[in-house]
Amino acid sequence: MSDVIHVQHPLVDHSLTILRDRNTGTSDFRMHAGIVSQILIVEATRHLRTRTRAIQTPLAAFEGTELDHKIVVVPVLRAGLAMLMTVQELLPDVGVGFVGLERDEETAEAREYYQKLPPITPKHQVLVLDPMLATGGSLDETVTILNQRDPGEIMLVSIVSAPEGIQRIQSRYPDVTIITAAIDECLNDQMFIVPGLGDFGDRYFGT
Ligand code: PRP
Ligand code: URA
Repeated sequence: MSDVIHVQHPLVDHSLTILRDRNTGTSDFRMHAGIVSQILIVEATRHLRTRTRAIQTPLAAFEGTELDHKIVVVPVLRAGLAMLMTVQELLPDVGVGFVGLERDEETAEAREYYQKLPPITPKHQVLVLDPMLATGGSLDETVTILNQRDPGEIMLVSIVSAPEGIQRIQSRYPDVTIITAAIDECLNDQMFIVPGLGDFGDRYFGT
């Protein structure tokens, strides 16, 4: 069964409460989405391989480390873009691919409308960014697309997840790790996460 890492931290809980609050405006929503994303990405990269690197400080020789990992990050359009900037700040040379998916408002089924991916090999770790894991349809479709490229490891990074979506991913992709800041109660009749934070993309982009 896939691992689920529920990241709990006072800064995350503080920012999540601001994200959930219906009265939060666009600028605060963006700022706190960035803070939560940053903490999630730090967690997602905790076990990256490193290798030693010998350097000279101004005072002495020093054996340091550098990253020894190939990473591709895939934000799921459009809401995943909210998390991309943070990843690029922490991993400035990361390869970026895009998958565009939109849920049908009636059926909640994800429909693909865009795809552009860099080379992905078994040596690559792929971080998929999507702030909401609701039914799991969008991330299910994304993992199916990525698996056609034979990646080394896939991690899904989401801000708020529903148990239904987690179960779907766990049963379909036992090797995929999910990293999330919140596991909420359930989905409602419209397949929105409850208590959730509403439509993430609309709130982040001010639509
Ligand atoms: C939202 C969200 C996820 C998806 C989650 O995207 O950003 O991608 O729904 O729902 P699921 O787990 O049931 O598939 P939406 O389709 O609303 O598009 P957007 O990112 O353009 O707002
Ligand atoms: N997408 C969102 O943005 N919010 C939800 O609650 C479910 C899907």
